[in-house]
Amino acid sequence: MAKKLWGGRFKKEIDIDFFEFQKSIQYDYRLALYDVTHSQIHILALKDAGILTPKEEKKLHFALQEIYTEIKENKFKPNLQSEDIHTEIQNRVEKKVGKLADKLHTLRSRNDQIAFDEKFYCRKQSLEIEKLILEVIKSFLELSRRYIGFSIVGYTHTQRAQKVDFKDYLGSFVCIFERDRKRCDDFSNKIVASLGSGAFKGTILTKHYDNALQGIIKKLALDETIKLQTVENPLEHVSDRDFIVEFLSILSILQMHLSRFAEDMILFSTQEFNFVDLPEEFCTGSSLMPHKKNPDFLELVRGYTGRIYGNLMALLTIMKGLPLTYNRDMQLDKEPLFSSVDIIKDELKILARFIKGIKLNEKVIEKALEDESLYTVDLAEYLVKEKKIPFAQAHEIIGKVIRYAEDNKCKIKDMEDSLLNTFSAHLNHKIIKEIFG
Ligand code: ARG
Repeated sequence: MAKKLWGGRFKKEIDIDFFEFQKSIQYDYRLALYDVTHSQIHILALKDAGILTPKEEKKLHFALQEIYTEIKENKFKPNLQSEDIHTEIQNRVEKKVGKLADKLHTLRSRNDQIAFDEKFYCRKQSLEIEKLILEVIKSFLELSRRYIGFSIVGYTHTQRAQKVDFKDYLGSFVCIFERDRKRCDDFSNKIVASLGSGAFKGTILTKHYDNALQGIIKKLALDETIKLQTVENPLEHVSDRDFIVEFLSILSILQMHLSRFAEDMILFSTQEFNFVDLPEEFCTGSSLMPHKKNPDFLELVRGYTGRIYGNLMALLTIMKGLPLTYNRDMQLDKEPLFSSVDIIKDELKILARFIKGIKLNEKVIEKALEDESLYTVDLAEYLVKEKKIPFAQAHEIIGKVIRYAEDNKCKIKDMEDSLLNTFSAHLNHKIIKEIFG
């Protein structure tokens, strides 16, 4: 077990099973970069508040910078015997600068650190997800350009409805994913990380610290992914996980859209529809049935919806009824958050390439477009526009024509004028041919 950040008041050693049960290093090591950033800003504020000398600040700065570089270069291997990432960074600094590291923990609590780390993480991830959504949108546009002027069968209730431009079908996904992109954009713009709340109410040093921090925020050339302010209300700061609930909600809506697109493609690629040919490199076969080409990517996207919604539900449930302020329950926010972010990013990355590989089975679609029922609205509207018949009456007339064709297993196109006239004096073979193409 690595050195802990607490222990003075305890007589007994922590139970080893309980230690394992409560530690979070095995997943919160992923916040290392954000946690070091917290420390880097923190020491500047401590210096300007007169708590660290410039020399001490410099020493700590170099130690933190070394750790920062290690993380950036993917060389950071956390000690899994540490309680959490905050303890791990503190211990590493101590190894580098000795007892001076104790000063790093002035006006400091992990409750404050974790709130900062997670806000910073969410903002960065939201920006990255936004970029990935943009790539997906570009792929939809590219696919659309490949099939300019091509129409497909449109559905409501999964029943044939009307002929629709493929460009408009894909355009609907462009609009949908653009909304998701905008939601990420709005979210990342409003996330502002803070530091200096201490455990939950600041300390007598807070005033000096906040003043110092105000000046630092103005001067600091911060990474574009981080926005910073002093803590408005420290109790609220350590209690708040709304931003994660909101981020997981945004990701859930995005996932719902991904699963709807996946379902359309699964359906359209069945032998029954056979409208699209899916890119083989994103499908797998069967170990038993040699002919199979299964849409696994799409099925997994559809399936992961359970995980993404579950992660949101998990956090909502963890936060429900929690007394103010920080409670250890909140440590359990990380796995759902990381899980949703990882899944969504993987899905979007693959989807952008998947879409580009989609091919339409044009012949099959053209054959399906011969279905006369797809043009009944056009026929009714001909009566409305050219013959000034009220739409409801036109709807009734065409409904009867369809019914007759169905009952007699004939095509409307093949009906004689004398038959058509029994439904309406305004209908004739020539008009039908013109509208049905
Ligand atoms: N690992 C904790 C979390 O993720 C950090 C805060 C712990 N605070 C404490 N007093 N034990 O929420």
